[in-house]
Amino acid sequence: MAGAGISTPSGIPDFRSPGSGLYSNLEQYNIPYPEAIFELMYFFVNPKPFFTLAKELYPGNYRPNYAHYFLRLLHDKGLLLRLYTQNIDGLERVAGIPPDKLVEAHGTFATATCTVCRRKFPGEDFRGDVMADKVPHCPVCTGVIKPDIVFFGEELPQRFFLHVTDFPMADLLFIIGTSLEVEPFASLAGAVRSSVPRVLINRDLVGPFAWQQRYNDVAQLGDVVSGVEKLVELLDWNEEMQTLIQKEKEKVGRGSEPCFPPSVSLFLVLGLFRGEQVHACWG
Ligand code: OAD
Ligand code: ZN
Repeated sequence: MAGAGISTPSGIPDFRSPGSGLYSNLEQYNIPYPEAIFELMYFFVNPKPFFTLAKELYPGNYRPNYAHYFLRLLHDKGLLLRLYTQNIDGLERVAGIPPDKLVEAHGTFATATCTVCRRKFPGEDFRGDVMADKVPHCPVCTGVIKPDIVFFGEELPQRFFLHVTDFPMADLLFIIGTSLEVEPFASLAGAVRSSVPRVLINRDLVGPFAWQQRYNDVAQLGDVVSGVEKLVELLDWNEEMQTLIQKEKEKVGRGSEPCFPPSVSLFLVLGLFRGEQVHACWG
């Protein structure tokens, strides 16, 4: 499970971090209260603030970082059952995690829907409008086009319901960079079997890690990237990570390097991958 905290190292602010989070920096959006940016009623009156954010987050502006590539490596190794993300920046896709391994629980800019005739379009069709600060309109009925981002009160995408079969099957749950404040996503943290270790990598304790830890919960507090780095070192995947990142960097070319934080000493041995009990002790 991932949230905005995995993308702050790519330069995208999260929502709730005091000071740096989007909800503390709304001047440029000119909205009456933070959540208005994701509210349908507000969007129909004034879609501009949402499109200001959309312009910022439209695919292409940011690059994945070490945390995204760690998730990609899990996939490459056949260990990733599914990545449930709340992020709408699309960086999981850019990092090479195939769409069938992804549940983009709060939607995506990859597709968009007309708010009047409900026709679907590739998000790319409206890039020009969004970049030119124009509210995109439907080429068929002229209705306002809304990227398929889940607004408050809207249903989550059908794929979200994969959780019904995924979570009981998981052998290990990573929860990375999320405040676990938004439902129904947050409740997924309680959906793995009670014998399954849950590993939180986050600045602070959140959700059940703050109020009802299980005996086998593990919390690695601090920066997401250094937490993931420690894990990679202990798994002895450092070389594979570097090779993967280098390969991806070459694909992108100059000027869009992913973030490589300095190495930090290791202090973890991770247990229970794919049902193989190893040994768990973190911190
Ligand atoms: P939040 O902003 O609520 O939480 C981000 C979490 O990541 C916080 O606990 C931060 O402390 C932590 N964090 C941020 N940067 C970090 C870093 N570099 N290292 C370690 N921890 C870090 O973001 P989400 O939980 O993703 O809805 O928010 C959930 C939903 O609320 C979002 O999907 C969004 C918003 O309404 C939509 O976009 C539709
Ligand atoms: Zn239309």
